[in-house]
Amino acid sequence: MLAESADHVSYLLDRRSVLSAMTTRDITNDQDWLDFSHEWAIRPDTLYMNHGSFGPPPRPVKYARRRWIDALDEQPMDFYVRLLEPAVLRAREATSEFVGTALNNLVLVENATFGMNVVADSFPLKEGDEVLLNNHEYGAVHRIWERICRRTGAIMRSVDLPRRIDSQEEVVQSILSGVNENTRLVVVSHVTSATALIMPVQQICEKLRERGVAVCIDGPHAPAQIELNIDQLGCDFYTASCHKWLCGNLGSGFLVVHPRWHTTLEPQLKSWGRLLPAIPERWFEEFTWSGTRDPSVYLTVPDAIEFMKSVGLQQFRERTYWLAAQARDRLAAEFGGEPLADPSKGWYGCMAHMPLPSGDWTELQHRLWNQHGIEVPIIHFENDWFVRVSCHLYNHQIQLDTLVKALWLETR
Ligand SMILES: Cc1ncc(COP(=O)(O)O)c(C=O)c1O
Repeated sequence: MLAESADHVSYLLDRRSVLSAMTTRDITNDQDWLDFSHEWAIRPDTLYMNHGSFGPPPRPVKYARRRWIDALDEQPMDFYVRLLEPAVLRAREATSEFVGTALNNLVLVENATFGMNVVADSFPLKEGDEVLLNNHEYGAVHRIWERICRRTGAIMRSVDLPRRIDSQEEVVQSILSGVNENTRLVVVSHVTSATALIMPVQQICEKLRERGVAVCIDGPHAPAQIELNIDQLGCDFYTASCHKWLCGNLGSGFLVVHPRWHTTLEPQLKSWGRLLPAIPERWFEEFTWSGTRDPSVYLTVPDAIEFMKSVGLQQFRERTYWLAAQARDRLAAEFGGEPLADPSKGWYGCMAHMPLPSGDWTELQHRLWNQHGIEVPIIHFENDWFVRVSCHLYNHQIQLDTLVKALWLETR
């Protein structure tokens, strides 16, 4: 513990001097960004290019969690009875301000999956009602809605978006083509998992509102990757994880619920709701206490937000979008493929998504790890194989070159 504290103090001193020394950075110059690599403790045998699946927390966020765990272990009664509720409130305040929603619309949950399950469990569906997804949605989200439709007698439909995406209107129209008089809910990603596309959710919400259809946005890739103003989107539900681009500790997320659904939404895990003797009266209070557990992860979402603000969100996006564009260019030069949508039209953020040469690449992801120490997802989508390259602050051009070389060796 002593060694760890000493580590922490020297790290903080280092960080202060490094960050104050760097005021402007050139997004094209890796040297200007090298100091950020020290913010993460990624294993030295690993070239990590999958922040989009599981984003490791930077040191300040990791240390913040340890402080909460210590406080919990050293005096559980004081922690739960006196510290927890104010700490949850502070975390909700910071998170709701960051994602652009009213405080009382947001609860902290473990992850986007958890939030989506809460929505599925509470959303009023009856026999013959329809829920609409599309072929770019996350597999587990399809499973959540399949199960709830099976239980309620509702029908889950999925529309295919065009193979090559040329315009936002085309995407909106494809989704609208699956809507009929029985459609009660459309589930759509803000940024898709298998294809890394930033979806036109604002337009989708507008059109569906006109038709009286509710929208649940699956948004774990959005916080920090893109600017968020959830209340402006006008969706009914928004579920997200903070352990991707926002750099929260793994297992932190939130659920936003529009006021028109506050009386409908219930936690899946029923418990006291609040700490006794307090009694839950408003919907979000039901989510504060769901049995004894370690809440340190989501209490540190404000630390993740502070960390990303200390970097500068604009600067973060400029650098990582540029790096993702470099990844696309290098992969296109080597393998000749094209992205599914035009990158110059704002379809992509911190992730490059590029086709691989034809072949069966079932084993490729394991080979990249076993032979080259590279962690990157190889994705099978609609009968083709793609690589999805995540670019965060600890990634550099030389890593992209290493990836392209490894892919070339393994797909020859
Ligand atoms: C679009 C999308 N939805 C949902 C999830 C599930 O996120 P989590 O595992 O954090 O709940 C993911 C994870 O990658 C995702 O990409």
